[in-house]
Amino acid sequence: MSVLDFSTKIGSKRFSNPIFTASGCASSGQELAQFFPLTELGAIVTKSIMTKPRTGRATPRMAETPSGMLNSIGLQGPGIHTFLERDIPWLVENKVKVIVSIAGETVDEYGVLARRLRAVAGISAVEVNISCPNVENRGQVFACHPESAVAVIEAVRRNIGGELPIVAKLSPDVTDIVAIAASVINVGVDGLALINTLLGMVIDTNTMKPKLTGKTGGLSGPAIRPIAVRAIYQVHQAFPNIPIVGMGGVSSGRDAFELVLAGASAISIGTANFSNPSAAINIKNELSALLTERGFNDFRDAIGFAHRGI
Ligand code: FUM
Repeated sequence: MSVLDFSTKIGSKRFSNPIFTASGCASSGQELAQFFPLTELGAIVTKSIMTKPRTGRATPRMAETPSGMLNSIGLQGPGIHTFLERDIPWLVENKVKVIVSIAGETVDEYGVLARRLRAVAGISAVEVNISCPNVENRGQVFACHPESAVAVIEAVRRNIGGELPIVAKLSPDVTDIVAIAASVINVGVDGLALINTLLGMVIDTNTMKPKLTGKTGGLSGPAIRPIAVRAIYQVHQAFPNIPIVGMGGVSSGRDAFELVLAGASAISIGTANFSNPSAAINIKNELSALLTERGFNDFRDAIGFAHRGI
């Protein structure tokens, strides 16, 4: 029996396997390390880091929904200074592949973050989160407008230097995700992360008030998987050579396979971590077995397979 080549690529960087964490669902990895060696993952995608420390939104900021979860964390985090002093050295020391996710309130802040990262050793890519739904000003969801998405990516590109791949994380809350993808591809992103959560709301029928203090939140989990599959399929069809880090409700190897068939080059595991911290490793093993069962010797041959012969 031949051995599966499970590796994948984003820009110039190679990853030993395509299973990543999703930003915001495993912080910077330290907590997850008690469950399995993080080197077993293709990469850890860190919680989106901002220029300054943030406490995020007031609680309650998470709520269960049918087949999903609503969050309005509000980009809580230590800020870039502590992140670079504390988290990156730990990840590098533990030989973990790292994709750093960044988020800003302004275009300039993204530029500042990119500049802080440019000389940092041990990073494999930068995810530019332009799609967080939990910002006070909805005008700051840069991924909802091609012009603002482009402005952010250009600022990151100008400041990051070198060959670090740039991955733009897009929102499904748009009329035409292919048009947004086209705009950031035109200014040179190396990959796309699809999809961030969808804006949702839950009202408590006892208190008769929104359950989340922030009122709205981002919907994730199995409920959104068909939307992720659709978005990945549409974008891969238009841009088959752009690597897509797919995510949205993946909780089994079969779910991951569906995103790969649609066109994902890697799969990030998010909400599933909350019910089972070892979910990513189970999914990795299940996907590997499924690929072998389907006769694939090379993971990359399965990427976008659902498009072939149509
Ligand atoms: O609110 C949050 O921290 C979520 C971020 C995101 O979905 O990008």
